[in-house]
Amino acid sequence: KNIALLAGGYSGEYEVSLNSAKNIASSLNASKYKVYTILLNRQRWVYEAAGGMVDVDKNDFSITLNGEKIKFDFAFITIHGTPGEDGKLQGYFDMLGIPYNTCDSTTSAITMNKAYTKAIVHDVPNLHTARSIKLLKNDLHDVATIASALKFPLFIKPNNGGSSVGMSKVYNAAALPEALEKAFREDDQVLVEEFIQGREFSQGIARLHGKITVLPATEIKSSKDFFDYEAKYTPGVSEEITPADIPADKATQIAGILTEVYIRLNCRGMVRIDFILQEGTNDFYFIEVNTTPGQSANSLIPQQVRAAGMDVGEFYGMLIEG
Ligand code: DAL
Ligand code: MG
Repeated sequence: KNIALLAGGYSGEYEVSLNSAKNIASSLNASKYKVYTILLNRQRWVYEAAGGMVDVDKNDFSITLNGEKIKFDFAFITIHGTPGEDGKLQGYFDMLGIPYNTCDSTTSAITMNKAYTKAIVHDVPNLHTARSIKLLKNDLHDVATIASALKFPLFIKPNNGGSSVGMSKVYNAAALPEALEKAFREDDQVLVEEFIQGREFSQGIARLHGKITVLPATEIKSSKDFFDYEAKYTPGVSEEITPADIPADKATQIAGILTEVYIRLNCRGMVRIDFILQEGTNDFYFIEVNTTPGQSANSLIPQQVRAAGMDVGEFYGMLIEG
């Protein structure tokens, strides 16, 4: 099969995506799949051939190498953020009739939006969400109103962001304007959300051979104030424990919650759900769903696949075969 591995993208997670693509390309079974990494940026969509860059023909998503037109049997999207995680490429491939690995365009668009996702999943049994306010760029942002509506510390997040780009944790009203400005540089919608004290986890869930399969959880212990971009991507700055140490009955309850979230959002392929178990209550607080989770060799999903006793290349193969 000819596989187009789509990497790069138009967001602040460009570099993260390149690392994901490298690992997927080297893990996939080379005797079954011929992998062409296609790099997307706002200017060009290109395949890096031996003789130089070859532009993709966007009419049929093909490339021409040495006079031969190459079409793809499958698009493996590993772009984080727009246009690979928010439904845009999914809509494009639907129109061309090329199958792909991620959720469909509607689900991708909804899950890219943290506030909309919370609105859909908030009444899943045993699932809690932190209180939050969504702000729009052109609205007036009255710091006193925000400060009186929510309890500090607060997280300020670009609503459609990833990898904590543009995100801050603030402890008082005085710090709000700068944090809002930073987040609005990334997005025209910003989510202001209460911090939940507790243990932080992220856990993959995927449909494999038609069956929804929950992977082992990872616990994240960041040595920074929160699991920010540096903590996510600098070795040693955070500790990631896979499989996480969670009592069996709690782990079963969590698997049930994740499965319900996956079904309600009509997810497809592999997604990774971030959550907190609140200190004291042990309640499950949903943070968000990532529909093109990071896939570098040390990323959470590859860790979890290995912890489940599976081979990462075979796991990616199952996503292609459906
Ligand atoms: N947004 C990053 C890539 C992740 O969720 O893994
Ligand atoms: Mg995320």
